[in-house]
Amino acid sequence: MSTRAVTKAVIPAAGLGTRFLPATKSQPKEMLPIVDKPAIQYVIEEAVRAGLTDILVVTGRGKRAIEDHFDRNFELEYYLEQQAKHDLLKEVQGTSEMADIHYIRQRDPLGLGHAVSVAREHVGDEPFAVLLGDDIMVDESQLLRSMIDVHARYGRSALALKRVPSDEISSYGCVEPEPVHDGLVQVRSIVEKPAVADAPSDLAVIGRYVFTPEIFEALDRIEPGAHGELQLTDAIALLLETQTVYGCVFETGRYDIGQKVDFLRANIELALDREDLGGDVAEILRRIEPNGVTDRIKSAQTGVLSQLMSTSRFARLVEQEAIDGDKAYRSEEHTSELQSPDHLVCRLLLEKK
Ligand code: G1P
Repeated sequence: MSTRAVTKAVIPAAGLGTRFLPATKSQPKEMLPIVDKPAIQYVIEEAVRAGLTDILVVTGRGKRAIEDHFDRNFELEYYLEQQAKHDLLKEVQGTSEMADIHYIRQRDPLGLGHAVSVAREHVGDEPFAVLLGDDIMVDESQLLRSMIDVHARYGRSALALKRVPSDEISSYGCVEPEPVHDGLVQVRSIVEKPAVADAPSDLAVIGRYVFTPEIFEALDRIEPGAHGELQLTDAIALLLETQTVYGCVFETGRYDIGQKVDFLRANIELALDREDLGGDVAEILRRIEPNGVTDRIKSAQTGVLSQLMSTSRFARLVEQEAIDGDKAYRSEEHTSELQSPDHLVCRLLLEKK
């Protein structure tokens, strides 16, 4: 099968970022830094590393800072040159030269499916990748490259898939898979944000896609779906009626920076990886471990202790803990129970009594 090579990437960046308010009241969430680099730069670097150098960012109101970031800044460059800050100058110039970046506005925030559909004119009759900015991959672009390889081999679309705990599946698009070989599945069906009981599997769609251009015809046909939005997942379900869609299953390298805890984890872990920062950050972590952390857990829990005590489950656990003391749990088979969050809370409750 002769297929055109994938050279274009579409990056939807029109979301309001309400989860990060007030930080995102007057700046795009895509510009929030992970260590010292805006989140969207990681995503664009990933695309470039995978060989995609024509990039369309779908923006919206209040997103001008993204365009400025990837543009030349002559005043800053002049200043850095005068100050002989050559490394910084190289870095600043690099962001404006890394790719051929285009912008288009999604005028109405009608959902991810709609955001991708506004890329139609730019993409034309070619396969293309979609990268969602809430997902940051630190895998040297391996996942994206493997998806592009699947497209090159089969001439069909490919989605990134990851197993998630079953109670988290309702936050994602979820597929019914049929294994092809290790790490590759065919998608039998797909549903957006299913209830846990209705989820066809624990395989969640993560924000990397490679599409055949036929996805645009499917996008034309979708109606508002989950949360009343035009969902990309619903267009993939329509595409499945006429074309096979593959899924590349991966395990590591992803930060879901749309979640505050993962955003913080990304900052800490990526700082630890840095030559210039890793040592100092490790030292900070060492200093607050173990006593500092335990103290913080205790004080964070003080506020919820009385609430917990009022629930019969915790009252029962505390009672049991009090009766048994440590003796019943000292045997080896209970070691893991001793570490469990429930029992930690019980211990704290008893210490406070
Ligand atoms: C979007 C997609 C969903 C996908 C997820 C990946 O959801 O609609 O299918 O699983 O991204 O991060 P959102 O995170 O915008 O709610």
